[in-house]
Amino acid sequence: MTQPSKCINYGPLRGLIGNWEGDKGVDIAPEPEGAETNPYYESLRFEAVGDVTNAGEQTLAVLSYRQLVRRKVDDEIFHHEIGYWIWDAAAETVMHSLAIPRGVTLLAGGTHKTEADGTIILEVAAAIDNPDWSIVQSPFMNTKARTTAFSHKVTLKADHLTYMETTSLDIYGRSFEHTDSNALTRS
Ligand code: HEM
Repeated sequence: MTQPSKCINYGPLRGLIGNWEGDKGVDIAPEPEGAETNPYYESLRFEAVGDVTNAGEQTLAVLSYRQLVRRKVDDEIFHHEIGYWIWDAAAETVMHSLAIPRGVTLLAGGTHKTEADGTIILEVAAAIDNPDWSIVQSPFMNTKARTTAFSHKVTLKADHLTYMETTSLDIYGRSFEHTDSNALTRS
């Protein structure tokens, strides 16, 4: 790793760096008899980490992030997530690794596009049977609450960020699409 002060090409991730707040969150999560909908607010912090070289030939630019999500109804933190967003300029690939304290971690990969008005769209996905972008989880979760797929779309324009993510679960004997979305502004 090098120092963040070095001039590093964070590509489409550069605009993420900073602190974000959003109170328009909607979570749809599984319950034994159906689903629950949780309005939420969150803080999201992206930090420039620097670059890294793999096998002497791949250079990646790295941001770390931490997401803290609170239920509006009681202000309790009910989702905590950490990870990295990674830009591979040579391959024009965006990577997103995440870990949540349920014993679930994943590495999603994907693309970016920049629209005419400067809006940047990042789209990444992982699936349990994908040899490149996959999911690792504890034996308990594998058996009882298995994450089978994950997709995440981030739309970034200046100081406005929205996201929509879908986590596909096998839980309570059925398949469930667990979704989360929010709109944030840079604080
Ligand atoms: C803003 C983002 C998220 C929020 C607010 C959220 C919230 C929730 C809630 C409320 C539940 C129901 C169980 C409970 O009350 O604790 C749940 C279940 C679950 N979530 Fe999330 N989640 C988020 C993102 C994710 C992500 C990114 C993953 C994994 C990739 C994930 C994996 C799971 C799993 C495996 C369960 C099933 C565990 C269970 O219900 O017993 N979630 N989540």
